[in-house]
Amino acid sequence: MFGLLFATFGVILSAKYSSITVDQSAFLALKSHITHDPYNFLTTNWSTSTSVCSWIGVTCGSRHHRVTALNLSSMDLTGTISSQLGNLSFLAWLDIHQNSFHGSLPIELTNLRRMKYLDFGNNSFNGEIPSWFGCFSKLQRLSLYLNNFIGVIPSTLGNLSKLERLGLSWNQISGRIPNSLFKCKDLKFLSLSSNSLEGSIPTEIGNFRKWAGLRFLMLFWCCEIPLVIGNLTSLQMLSLGSNKLTGRIPTPPPLLQWYAVSTNNLIGEIPSSVCNLTSLKVMALDENNLEGTIPKCIGNMSSSLTAVDLGNNNFHGQIPENFAKGCMLRSLGINNNELEGSLPRSLGNCKGLNLLNVGNNNLNDTFPSWLGNLDQLQVLILRSNRFYGQIESFDITVSLTKLRIIDLSHNNFSGYLPTPFFEHMHAIRDEYGKNVEPNYMREVKPTKDAFGVFWVDYASGLSVTAKGLEIKFESLLSIWTVIDLSSNQFRGEIPKILGKLHLLLVLNLSHNCLIGPIPSSLGNLSELESLDLSSNKLEGRIPTELKNLGFLEVLNLSQNNLKGPIPQGKQFDTFTKDSYMGNSDLCGFPLSKNCGTDEETPAKFDRDDDGDELNWKFSILMGSWSESDKDLQKGRER
Ligand SMILES: *[C@@H]1O[C@H](CO)[C@@H](O)[C@H](O)[C@H]1NC(C)=O
Ligand SMILES: *[C@@H]1O[C@H](CO)[C@@H](O)[C@H](O)[C@H]1NC(C)=O
Ligand SMILES: *[C@@H]1O[C@H](CO)[C@@H](O)[C@H](O)[C@H]1NC(C)=O
Ligand SMILES: *[C@@H]1O[C@H](CO)[C@@H](O)[C@H](O)[C@H]1NC(C)=O
Ligand SMILES: *[C@@H]1O[C@H](CO)[C@@H](O)[C@H](O)[C@H]1NC(C)=O
Ligand SMILES: *[C@@H]1O[C@H](CO)[C@@H](O)[C@H](O)[C@H]1NC(C)=O
Ligand SMILES: *[C@@H]1O[C@H](CO)[C@@H](O)[C@H](O)[C@H]1NC(C)=O
Ligand SMILES: *[C@@H]1O[C@H](CO)[C@@H](O)[C@H](O)[C@H]1NC(C)=O
Ligand SMILES: *[C@@H]1O[C@H](CO)[C@@H](O)[C@H](O)[C@H]1NC(C)=O
Ligand SMILES: *[C@@H]1O[C@H](CO)[C@@H](O)[C@H](O)[C@H]1NC(C)=O
Ligand SMILES: *[C@@H]1O[C@H](CO)[C@@H](O)[C@H](O)[C@H]1NC(C)=O
Ligand SMILES: *[C@@H]1O[C@H](CO)[C@@H](O)[C@H](O)[C@H]1NC(C)=O
Repeated sequence: MFGLLFATFGVILSAKYSSITVDQSAFLALKSHITHDPYNFLTTNWSTSTSVCSWIGVTCGSRHHRVTALNLSSMDLTGTISSQLGNLSFLAWLDIHQNSFHGSLPIELTNLRRMKYLDFGNNSFNGEIPSWFGCFSKLQRLSLYLNNFIGVIPSTLGNLSKLERLGLSWNQISGRIPNSLFKCKDLKFLSLSSNSLEGSIPTEIGNFRKWAGLRFLMLFWCCEIPLVIGNLTSLQMLSLGSNKLTGRIPTPPPLLQWYAVSTNNLIGEIPSSVCNLTSLKVMALDENNLEGTIPKCIGNMSSSLTAVDLGNNNFHGQIPENFAKGCMLRSLGINNNELEGSLPRSLGNCKGLNLLNVGNNNLNDTFPSWLGNLDQLQVLILRSNRFYGQIESFDITVSLTKLRIIDLSHNNFSGYLPTPFFEHMHAIRDEYGKNVEPNYMREVKPTKDAFGVFWVDYASGLSVTAKGLEIKFESLLSIWTVIDLSSNQFRGEIPKILGKLHLLLVLNLSHNCLIGPIPSSLGNLSELESLDLSSNKLEGRIPTELKNLGFLEVLNLSQNNLKGPIPQGKQFDTFTKDSYMGNSDLCGFPLSKNCGTDEETPAKFDRDDDGDELNWKFSILMGSWSESDKDLQKGRER
């Protein structure tokens, strides 16, 4: 009796033992294919002295005591996938994304008939996408984004009747989208961005219309956008950005929340159906060849819209006027168009506005003092318009405390520089500024799904001039602080208070009618990288305090009436004659004119008493933008 019991028990035990042994040897084989495990995740943990089910990344089912899930994501592993993995016959979840697995996928994986979830994203797999993926009849998610897969999308994927998410973006997949794919009736999310797909969207895509579940469609094409997208009535997100799409801008379906087709070659006018999109949040149409006027309804929709970027197109006419109370707009970019008229006062209703970029248009208005109500504003760009008049020391209910980039250049502003205005720029002035989050950027990089998809860069048109170069948005990190009032008709002296804007990186007051001395307080702008005071009527000596500007890379004092010795040493050793041209009476290096002995300043002898000299020289030599940014950050950490 006991013997029988024992015997039965023994059989069960050994059956269990043997099958989990299969799983164990599959893992040991996998481990032996891993060539680099920098954090020793597997090296010691995957040891035969403990049960497989306690190994890191491994989950066993309670019923069969077999491995059901393997998750090695983000472990920085390098290696290949061993064919023994196909022996894990109960495996349903396999997630190895964000590692450095390479090679091709072994056909033995076809044995994994219970597979529901496969994520191989962000590795270095190559070869074609295996057609045997079509065998995983239970598969719900398949993610292969960010690998080196080539070839076509296998038509067998159309057999995956349970598939809900398919992510193939960031590979080198070519050819057409197989029609069979649109048999996957449960598909909610399809991401094919950044590949080399061609052709037009298969007509079967019309089927999507009937599929209540479809929420996201991410189709990035290389040719004409099919207007049929407008028929996808369930679509909530349309993201076609950064391609070479031609043809007319697609009409938005009614439930759309994200309408993002930036950076293509689309033509046509903004479809009037956009006025019916009651849930629209983001409208990013920038960098195309769109024309016509901006629909008036945009103002009405501002209770749902948070970001509008229409920059770099050919829009004309006026900016819509009726921004409603409760306007939710955070970012409005309509730069580089042909807009005229004035800035709508109703924008003052958009209390949360972070970014307003209307640069390079034909706007004709006075300075928008009413912006003072917008205490979240961080970026204000009015560059190259026809703004005019004095910037009154406007009602100091003003609280532009978060402003960090202000560009009024190339307008017709006049009068004195707005001293009270500078006084209130706390984001540039003190420690407070270091804690101001750059909201206008944070929303730019929203959802990065496990499928590695969409970036809607709704403020991509943003740029400023600094160090004589146009700096694009990408580089406009949170740390950027810019005051550019150049090419206007400002007069009077440079206010000393500017010296209190300790976090300022770029100051450009050139091409105005400024008089008087360069305030020595500017020597307190210890972070300054670019200072341009050229083409004014400044007088007197160059204050030796400017030698304290340890990060200064560009200095332009040319075309003024400055005189006396040029400070010597530190950054001043790096500037050329160009920095000083057109001043009647300057002397000393780098100019050929020597200073008389009575003009010599003691500053000249400071040179050797600064142990940091080598460091700053090195940073100048490294001189590129990115390097200097690094230096800057290093400087901050110190
Ligand atoms: C392996 O890792 C798992 C999960 O972190 C842990 O529970 C287990 O104790 C580790 N085993 C060994 C032998 O280190
Ligand atoms: C795998 O682990 C990572 C990190 O813990 C987690 O984010 C991911 O969702 C897991 N994958 C699966 C399929 O559960
Ligand atoms: C597991 O897979 C390998 C290679 O695919 C195979 O040689 C082996 O016989 C399989 N079975 C067991 C029990 O390991
Ligand atoms: C891919 O993985 C690397 C680390 O292996 C990580 O730095 C990078 O951010 C990941 N990229 C994406 C798009 O997830
Ligand atoms: C899968 O799809 C292919 C091509 O679409 C088809 O020929 C095949 O019969 C389908 N069925 C299976 C089980 O692969
Ligand atoms: C899209 O909708 C329009 C108008 O409802 C219709 O004429 C057209 O046939 C539809 N296209 C497809 C491919 O379903
Ligand atoms: C907007 O919606 C209304 C009511 O549903 C409809 O009559 C009208 O044609 C739509 N307008 C556009 C431009 O689609
Ligand atoms: C837009 O606002 C204007 C004025 O506030 C109003 O007359 C018009 O009916 C609104 N349109 C819509 C579509 O809400
Ligand atoms: C700006 O508008 C004013 C008043 O509407 C007009 O008198 C002036 O000529 C305009 N200026 C330019 C440069 O268009
Ligand atoms: C700027 O304003 C002055 C008068 O203040 C005027 O003479 C000049 O034409 C204006 N320039 C432009 C470009 O509007
Ligand atoms: C300052 O602004 C002028 C135009 O107003 C521009 O030409 C110059 O390059 C700018 N200076 C620097 C150093 O960026
Ligand atoms: C510069 O800063 C120092 C210390 O922060 C201060 O004592 C000095 O008054 C400032 N100089 C000017 C000219 O603002």
